[in-house]
Amino acid sequence: MKVVAIASYKGGVGKTTLTANIGAAIASLGRRVLLIDLDPQANLTLNFYRADTWHTELADQRRTVKAWFESWRPEAIPPPLAGYVTTPPVVAAAIAARGGTLDLLASHLALGDIEMDLVARLGGAQAHRSTRHYFDVYQRLATGLASFSPNDYDLVLIDCPSNFGVITRAAVAACDHLLVPSRPDNQSTTGIEHLMGKLGRFVWEYNRVAELQFGIRPAVKRLEPRLLGVVLTMVQYYRGRPTSFLRPHIDRAGSLGIPVFESMLRLSNRSFVGTAGAQLPAVLSPDLSPDLARDMLALVEEFLRRIRPAGAATTRSVDPSVLVDPAWMS
Ligand SMILES: Nc1ncnc2c1ncn2[C@@H]1O[C@H](COP(=O)(O)OP(=O)(O)OP(=O)(O)O)[C@@H](O)[C@H]1O
Ligand SMILES: [Mg+2]
Repeated sequence: MKVVAIASYKGGVGKTTLTANIGAAIASLGRRVLLIDLDPQANLTLNFYRADTWHTELADQRRTVKAWFESWRPEAIPPPLAGYVTTPPVVAAAIAARGGTLDLLASHLALGDIEMDLVARLGGAQAHRSTRHYFDVYQRLATGLASFSPNDYDLVLIDCPSNFGVITRAAVAACDHLLVPSRPDNQSTTGIEHLMGKLGRFVWEYNRVAELQFGIRPAVKRLEPRLLGVVLTMVQYYRGRPTSFLRPHIDRAGSLGIPVFESMLRLSNRSFVGTAGAQLPAVLSPDLSPDLARDMLALVEEFLRRIRPAGAATTRSVDPSVLVDPAWMS
């Protein structure tokens, strides 16, 4: 089971769209996929459920990630995540003949309350001083995912909120890989730099606290998330060629040591904007344009190539020594 967190510092760069479409495409190739919506906006969830159904069948029935977090008791074994997972029916019907499955751990609009509880539990800026609470908070999701058997899912995709708060950090602590979508504009590439700085600092801090625990808490392991890379999204095309200025963004990511996917996702308002009510990601839509189908196929092939296990040369490990600003220690 591979766990990939899809994160960015900047909002509206295509995280949720990529999570839904990459997940649905890989499920339709016959794999078992779990999507986790960690964003209180619940956009990923609303890609698969109508708002009224979300209310009655998920929120009211406590089948959301918020309900799972709420069921957590300190020092106790958390309830298995499987009890909170749902299978969106429209997608299930669309991929039934292809042998794969797509499940969802839905979000909740009040997930922000959980985040506030977690921050309070951490105890503010000096969080790393209380190691018991530190790992209780940051290992929760990883512990929840460990409750699945390796055969339950081939791939878990986590759609993160557009910040580097406690919930995103818990996703980083639970993932094998990070995927960073970005629009080819200056604000978005600056967002990548911010994210890398925050990420390097968190991984460094976590591993430093973890080292103090080796021998005391055998379950605590070093974090070694690998950067799958940046995927450029909403790229403008004209006559089959990108017209967005891509080179500066590719160079800037390269200068940070982050690989950039060769494949990218073109801008297509017709396919992506205002289609949430369809409960079917664009990649499974019968109206999918041939251009977009080609983009998605190339993207998914490259994604699968990059998450191949053991020393895949196409990913980079997070190098905290380059990215970390050790000022937090003072
Ligand atoms: N390739 C695309 N072409 C056109 N529109 C797109 C494309 N990808 C995403 N969109 C649209 O852009 C908006 C933002 O995309 P999305 O919600 O995936 O971004 P996000 O990074 O998850 O945003 P947020 O920070 O709000 O979580 C949505 O309305 C989505 O439908
Ligand atoms: Mg989103």
